[in-house]
Amino acid sequence: MGLIPDEIIETVRLRSDIVEVVSRYVQLKKKGKYFTGSCPFHHDRAPSFTVTPDKQIFYCFGCSTGGDVFKFLMLKENVTFYEAVHMLARQAGVAVPVTESPARREKERRREALHQINSLAKDFYSRVLQQHREAAAARRYLAARGLNRDAWERFEIGFALPEWNSLLGFLGREGYRSDEVVEAGLAVKNEAGRYYDRFRNRVIFPIRDAAARVAGFGGRVLDDSLPKYVNTPETPFFSKGRLLYGLHLARPAIREKKFVVVVEGYLDVITAHLHGITNAVATLGTAFTVEQGRLLMNYSRDVVIAYDADAAGVAATIRGLDILQELGCQVRVLSIPDGKDPDDLIRKHGHRFWEELISKAPSLIEYKLQQATGGGTVKTVAGKLEVMRMVFPNLAGMNSEVEKEEGLKAVAQVLSLSWETVAGEFKRFNKKQGNKWLKPDNFTKTKHNIVSEEEKPDARARAEAGLLRLILEEPSLGTAVLGEMGEEPFRRPSYNKIFKYCMEAAGRPSYRPVEILGYLEDEDQAVLSRLLTQEIPGADPVQIMKGYLESLGRCSRQERRKMLLNEISKAEKSGNKSLYSQLWREYLVLRVIAEAEKAGDRNRMENLLQEYRKVSGANDVGVP
Ligand code: UTP
Ligand code: MN
Repeated sequence: MGLIPDEIIETVRLRSDIVEVVSRYVQLKKKGKYFTGSCPFHHDRAPSFTVTPDKQIFYCFGCSTGGDVFKFLMLKENVTFYEAVHMLARQAGVAVPVTESPARREKERRREALHQINSLAKDFYSRVLQQHREAAAARRYLAARGLNRDAWERFEIGFALPEWNSLLGFLGREGYRSDEVVEAGLAVKNEAGRYYDRFRNRVIFPIRDAAARVAGFGGRVLDDSLPKYVNTPETPFFSKGRLLYGLHLARPAIREKKFVVVVEGYLDVITAHLHGITNAVATLGTAFTVEQGRLLMNYSRDVVIAYDADAAGVAATIRGLDILQELGCQVRVLSIPDGKDPDDLIRKHGHRFWEELISKAPSLIEYKLQQATGGGTVKTVAGKLEVMRMVFPNLAGMNSEVEKEEGLKAVAQVLSLSWETVAGEFKRFNKKQGNKWLKPDNFTKTKHNIVSEEEKPDARARAEAGLLRLILEEPSLGTAVLGEMGEEPFRRPSYNKIFKYCMEAAGRPSYRPVEILGYLEDEDQAVLSRLLTQEIPGADPVQIMKGYLESLGRCSRQERRKMLLNEISKAEKSGNKSLYSQLWREYLVLRVIAEAEKAGDRNRMENLLQEYRKVSGANDVGVP
C-alpha cells in the first residue's frame, strides 16, 4: 500500500482531524456524536453523509462510501493512498522518511516490473503484427475490418503468434523470469510446471490506465471461435472494473466536447476514434462499476451510454444509468438500431449519423419509460403503477426541479394520464421513501442505491453487526467468540475478514479500530466504516455481548427448525422411517426450547440446551 511505514501513517492520522479535512469540501453540522452533511460522492438529498470524529471515519448511508481521512482525500482529490498521506503529513508537520521497509520496496519493485513487462510485451506484439511472416492472416483480418497501419499505431494493436512460447522466449532474453511473466498475466503455468504464453494466435489490444501505463491486454481470435476475447486475468494490479479502455486517448476530447460516450468494446472505441468521435471510452464488456463512474467524473459529468442493442447491452445500460445518476451525472442513452453495435453503425452510416443520434439521445427518464412500456401503450392501472414504480426513484434523484418537472411530463404523456395524477403519485412515493436515510441503527435502504450489498435487515444481520461492532471496541471479547464459534463466526464474509484483522491488530497496545481499514478492500472498508458509525447500546460490554450471542443462537435454532421441516417432508416422501423419526425428535426438542425461551423460563431453557448440545453435537445452534 505504498512506501510509508505504518507508524508514520498512524502519526499522520492522529494529527489530522477528519472533521476539519472534510469540512474543506462539505458543510458539516454537528448532530450528537457525529457530524452530517450532503455526500460529496453522490447526488444527495438527505443528507446522508456522516463523519464520526471519535472513530475518525466517514460513512454515507446513501451510497455506502466510507473510510478514513486518507480514503476521503483519495476519492475527493483523485490521488493515491501514498499521495494522500503525504498531503496530510505536510499539513500536520510530520516528516515522512524516505527509508522503506524491504517488504514495501519489494512490492513496489514488482509493480514496476509488471508495467515494464507489459510495455515490452506491447512492443513485441506490435512488431510481430507489422513484420512477422506468420502475422499475414492477422494483417488481412484487420484490413478487412477497416483497420490500417495508422490505426495499428494509434491503438498500439499487435499480434500474438500461434506458438506456445514466443513471448516467453522474448521476455526471457530480456532478462525476465517465467514466473514474473505469469504474474503479469501474460503466461500460464500448467500442472506439470511448464510455462506457456497466455495469448496465442490473437490480435492484441493493449489497455492503458488513466496514468497511461500499460495495465493489461485483450486478445481477439481471428475467426468465430470461442472465447472471442482473452484478457489479462484480474489481479491487484489489473482489474477491468477500474479501467476504461481508451481513456488516456479520449481525455482531451472529453474535456473539449464536455461529454463522454461510453461503449462496450475495444472495436467500438477504435472505430469511433478513427471516425473523429474521440470522446469515446469502453467498459470492456463488464457491468458498469462505481469506480468507472468516478473515473469518468474527473473529466465530465455529462455521459452518453451507447451499449449494444442486445439484451445484455440493455441490462448493462440500465445498471450504468442508475450508478451514474447516483454519482450526480447527467445521463443520456444512445439507442443503436437493429441489433448492431457502435462499430457497425459508425462504419456503415458515418460520423454525421452518429452526431444526429447523439442529439436525439433520450434522457434517462425517457429511456426508462421506453424500456418499461416496451414502446407500446400501457392500458391497465396495475401496469401504469408498475411503470411509475420503475422510474420514480430516478425522478427523485434528479438534480433540478426543472428536470423533475420535465420527467413528470414525460411519464404523464407516455401513460396517458394527467400531469396532476402523476405528480400526486410521485408525491406519495417521495413521502413513503421519506427520511429513511439517516438512521445508523436501522439498515434500511431504498431500491435505487448504488451498492445494495445490504440485505433486508433481519435479526441475524443486526446481531452480527452489533457483535462485531462491540468486538472492534473491546477486542478482548473477541477471544471468547473465537473460542465458542471458531475463526469465522459470522455469516457475512466481510465481517469475518474484519474480525480476523481485528484479532491480529488488537494485540498492539496502541490499537484503534480505524487502523484495520488499511488492510481492507474498498467494499470492506465501507462495511467497516458503517459499523464504526453505529453506537454501542449500553455501558456493560459483557452484558451486551451476551444479548447478541443469545440472539444469534435463537436465529440459528430458528433456521435449523426451518431446515428440519424441509428434511422431514423429504424423508416422509422417500419413506425413510428412521431418518424421519430422528429428524422429528430433533425438531421437537428445538420447539420445546423455543417455548421455554418464550415463556422466559431461563433455567429450563439452559438445561434443555445443554441436553440438545450433547445429543446433536451442534455448536453454533446451541450458542450460547
Ligand atoms: P463484444 O462481443 O461486443 O465485442 O464485447 P466487440 O468489441 O464488439 O468485438 P467484435 O466487434 O465482435 O470484434 C464487448 C467487449 O466485451 C469484452 C471485450 O472487452 C469486448 O470488447 N469481452 C467480450 C470479453 O472480455 N470477452 C469475451 O469473450 C467477449
Ligand atoms: Mn463489435
